[in-house]
Amino acid sequence: MKTYNIALIKGDGIGPEIIDEAVKVLNRVGELENISFKYEEYLMGGAAIDATGEPLPQATIDGCKASDAVLFGAIGGPKWDALPRDKKPETGLLKIRKELGTFANLRPATAYNELVDASPLKKELIEGVDLLVVRELTGGIYFGEPRAIEADRGYNTEIYYKYEVERIAKVAFEAARKRRKKLTSVDKANVLESSIFWRGIINEMAKDYPDVELEHLYVDNAAMQLVVNPRQFDVIVTGNIFGDILSDEASVLGGSIGLLPSASLGEKWAIYEPIHGSAPDIAGKGIANPIATILSAAMMLKYSLNEEAAAARIEAAVNKTLADGYRTGDIAKFGAKVKCNCAEMGERIAQSL
Ligand code: IPM
Ligand code: MN
Repeated sequence: MKTYNIALIKGDGIGPEIIDEAVKVLNRVGELENISFKYEEYLMGGAAIDATGEPLPQATIDGCKASDAVLFGAIGGPKWDALPRDKKPETGLLKIRKELGTFANLRPATAYNELVDASPLKKELIEGVDLLVVRELTGGIYFGEPRAIEADRGYNTEIYYKYEVERIAKVAFEAARKRRKKLTSVDKANVLESSIFWRGIINEMAKDYPDVELEHLYVDNAAMQLVVNPRQFDVIVTGNIFGDILSDEASVLGGSIGLLPSASLGEKWAIYEPIHGSAPDIAGKGIANPIATILSAAMMLKYSLNEEAAAARIEAAVNKTLADGYRTGDIAKFGAKVKCNCAEMGERIAQSL
């Protein structure tokens, strides 16, 4: 029997509750597919600050590097908001992405038939939406130097190197090739040099992918198109900050942000996490929606562990559970037959495997 080493970072807020449900589902799918998981827990974010004074202890970096994949819940909360930037929970997350070199952030947004009414957008608009945001995750203005707060100014640097654009473009073109073969590159090339450069490299790379239809959109237009006609999109590739903004926007298309998983992939390591945050307002109440984390575990099986069958089993179990009318609070208004809390939702999905 194959055993995988999984680093668990539960984090803050609802992080521990949702990770527990993902572990429940992983263990059950392991029994069914004859694979097993060995978990090690590591600290990051507020929990790490409280225990060690640092948002990302070295032991966490080392533990993640020694594992087959990292499954992460969420970090942050009001308790740590007033700390200086280098001590904030968010700094821990940015640092682990950089340390593990997870440059490609895949954020799928799929509209579930049963939940199209859960979106604030019109049903006719979002039915059939199935898109993938490929966000560059370890470069751009998040990491560019110089950056500083000075007496009379604050600044950051948006910078993209050739190798960074090439490697994210490759991930995006290849993802498009496996899907509906359309790629939209999003930039601000009417204003920014970094975007003109980005667009040039994408056009260069497109020569190797004649089977993929490529278009370019300015980010302001892309933001509008996402809510005007989201079905036009297949794969969207963009830089770090535009991807941060557009992927939150795209999450609304799926019905609830509580449903959307993500994978952050690098050459060697990968991190899997729900795209939502730590939801301090409902933390500890046991009512969070664990589906985004459970689907992140499915992405982990697919991308890091090559366990496609186990991944497909989890996706099917989530679909069945939603089709059967099980609903956590965030999606309870829509087609609920059985209202459930976080643990009950996890159990239901595990049983549907
Ligand atoms: C995300 C988050 C992070 C980001 C924050 C918490 C640093 O918003 O994963 O999208 O901006 O990348
Ligand atoms: Mn974000």
